Amino acid sequence: MRDLAAAAKAARARAHAPYSKFYVGAAMRDEQGRIFSGCNIENAAYPQGWCAEPSAISALIMAGGTRITEVAVMGNGTTLCTPCGGCRQKIREFAAGDVKIHCCTEEGELIRTFTLDELLPASFGPDNLA
Ligand code: THU
Repeated sequence: MRDLAAAAKAARARAHAPYSKFYVGAAMRDEQGRIFSGCNIENAAYPQGWCAEPSAISALIMAGGTRITEVAVMGNGTTLCTPCGGCRQKIREFAAGDVKIHCCTEEGELIRTFTLDELLPASFGPDNLA
């Protein structure tokens, strides 16, 4: 958890969030144990911005990762920053229901850990299309 939180903190420092001023960092571990991180990137055309989680997922996929095995995310201060609904579904594509999602303070201290199943119960995933 500590390594993931540190990576999320470093990613959060890169956040481009001049409009909301809500700076988010996310880090994800892949099936090889490697860590990938990302930040939110807002846009003057507001709907074109995106969250920290897809930034991290993109890095993981582009490095050849195929599974997400652990996640850490943080927003401003001590606010509980859980992944938004869309991000939960994006994580679901590559993660099992028991994958841990650690919600941290901006300093990387753990606030609360959820499983993906807790955040996205009865989810729709790749198996539903099999
Ligand atoms: N945000 C994320 O990066 N991840 C989330 O799961 C929650 C929201 C970002 C999007 C936007 O740039 C800012 O936080 C405020 O919503």
